[in-house]
Amino acid sequence: MSINKNTKIYVAGHRGMVGSAIIRQLLAKGFTNIMTRSHAELDLCNQQAVSDFFQQERPEQVYLAAAMVGGIHANNTYPAEFIYQNLMMEANVVHQAFNAGVRKLLFLGSSCIYPKMAPQPMAEDALLTGKLEATNEPYAIAKIAGIKLCESYNRQYGQSYGIDYRSVMPSNLYGPGDNYHPENSHVIPALIRRFHEAKKKKSPEVVIWGTGTPMREFLYVDDMAAASVFVMGLDKKIYDQYTEPMQSHINVGFGSDLTIKELAEMIGSVVGYQGQINFDATKPDGTPKKLMSSFRLKKMGWEPKVTLEDGLRVAYEDFLREGSES
Ligand SMILES: NC(=O)c1ccc[n+]([C@@H]2O[C@H](COP(=O)([O-])OP(=O)(O)OC[C@H]3O[C@@H](n4cnc5c(N)ncnc54)[C@H](OP(=O)(O)O)[C@@H]3O)[C@@H](O)[C@H]2O)c1
Repeated sequence: MSINKNTKIYVAGHRGMVGSAIIRQLLAKGFTNIMTRSHAELDLCNQQAVSDFFQQERPEQVYLAAAMVGGIHANNTYPAEFIYQNLMMEANVVHQAFNAGVRKLLFLGSSCIYPKMAPQPMAEDALLTGKLEATNEPYAIAKIAGIKLCESYNRQYGQSYGIDYRSVMPSNLYGPGDNYHPENSHVIPALIRRFHEAKKKKSPEVVIWGTGTPMREFLYVDDMAAASVFVMGLDKKIYDQYTEPMQSHINVGFGSDLTIKELAEMIGSVVGYQGQINFDATKPDGTPKKLMSSFRLKKMGWEPKVTLEDGLRVAYEDFLREGSES
């Protein structure tokens, strides 16, 4: 199938970690007609503004990588904003894209859509089989609604209007453009900062919360972007062969996990920290294991390329450029 490199593509959330990686990926693939709007230029929660934008610009494809995202603390403190803003953004973008004749859209969700006790590795069919993790339930409900929006529009309008809206669920991402905030960041950027600061101060030890035994999966953000462009471009017959109309989302993970202790040792080595790494077992650990099954995507023909160690080296360079002063 030949792909028209002049297709007009709108990437929503292009200044975020994932959106900016999607732009890099599209440019690398030779796409020339990419359009963006910053949050200040277009508030995706504003229905009229989103409608006006789509009617005026009429993109042919949409990557929906805009969202209100955050860690446990933010999710616990602002549950109303998490559910409201994410629902509004998805509903506005999907509906107004449809109104403006957009045929292809890719929605980005998250692995938190799966039940807290889902069997490991978590496959796509675990969706809606049990209770969610309480701390980010509002966010997860909004993400599940995003999948169901895409599916419902496909089911009602797929045949008559030729629309094909797909969803991908990334595992934990890291890489350029990450948030290195001292209190409000994910585990990889947080550890990069801690080891970097400990190296600068020549601290003899870094103490990490928990036992270090929980296992986690991490995917380099440019691999996520490559998977997104791959899924968007995938032949409909192949997509349909591996999905169901009411279970159409696709996991995108690295495919294997490691312990927090192994991760910390790897980051310590990438940063060049020479001291001891110790664990404070009196602090909570969280879920023992959280690994997604990416078998469906593998069968469709895509696998990640960037090893954790290589990805961490690029992430550390990015931190030295962008994050170390914040
Ligand atoms: N990072 C991860 O580990 C991870 C893991 C799984 C899934 N994901 C998913 O990937 C997607 C992107 O995440 P990310 O890490 O790239 O997040 P991010 O870095 O915070 O980027 C989100 C982007 O959305 C924009 N945005 C938020 N509210 C908006 C609004 N009302 N109108 C217009 N733009 C708005 C933000 O702009 P401002 O900053 O200007 O507000 C920002 O550019 C999300 O759907 C997330 O759930 C991420």
